[in-house]
Amino acid sequence: MRNIMVINPKGGSGKTTLATNLAAYYATEGKDVVLADFDPQGSAMDWLELRDPERPPIRGIRAWEEGLKSVGRPDFVIMDAPAGARGPELTELLRRAETVLVPVLPSPVDMKAGVRFIAELRDHPRSGKIKPALVANRVRDYTRISGELYRFLETQRIPFVAGLRDTQNYVRAYSRGLGVWELAPYMAYPDWEQWDPLILWLESRRSRP
Ligand SMILES: Nc1ncnc2c1ncn2[C@@H]1O[C@H](COP(=O)(O)OP(=O)(O)OP(=O)(O)O)[C@@H](O)[C@H]1O
Ligand SMILES: [Mg+2]
Repeated sequence: MRNIMVINPKGGSGKTTLATNLAAYYATEGKDVVLADFDPQGSAMDWLELRDPERPPIRGIRAWEEGLKSVGRPDFVIMDAPAGARGPELTELLRRAETVLVPVLPSPVDMKAGVRFIAELRDHPRSGKIKPALVANRVRDYTRISGELYRFLETQRIPFVAGLRDTQNYVRAYSRGLGVWELAPYMAYPDWEQWDPLILWLESRRSRP
């Protein structure tokens, strides 16, 4: 069983987008997947409700209410963390995670918040028990701020494993309960390619404590 948490206290950085797409990826690979929503806003559960029952199944857990007690032993537990998790709440979340993905947006506010969160992760009592990685999200090629985000992420002591572009494909996929994997290739192929290094990292020993 793999436990993968998507977390960043900064709101709107792409946690739910990463978590739902990752759950859809492993489901389309035939894996037994639980999507655990730790955010009382329930955006990951809203996405799951939009999913066609004919699609490869994903089991949803309202983890903000019930924790992970009914999870059992699936192949993957993908956890979507709420914005603002700090202190004891952060510790409680990290206690459940082995692999931790941190999406960061190309904006000065998000990068400043990123610096603080990366330091918090590094100094956290759980730091020896988790393998974190950084993901650039909503990257727009050839913009100065996206270049700055790449330079910033490359110089952190946490591995920087993938950059995902800013595209309506994620909005489209969300509104249909899909991952970008389940969109037409002519439309979403560039996104599949961008996910490759992240999937490879998740398959490697380096993503496991
Ligand atoms: N790569 C992307 N391209 C385009 N839109 C994106 C991308 N990633 C996220 N979004 C959009 O940005 C918004 C915020 O994303 P998301 O809900 O995944 O962030 P979040 O970190 O889960 O937010 P919260 O902190 O509120 O839980 C959503 O409308 C989502 O569709
Ligand atoms: Mg969210």
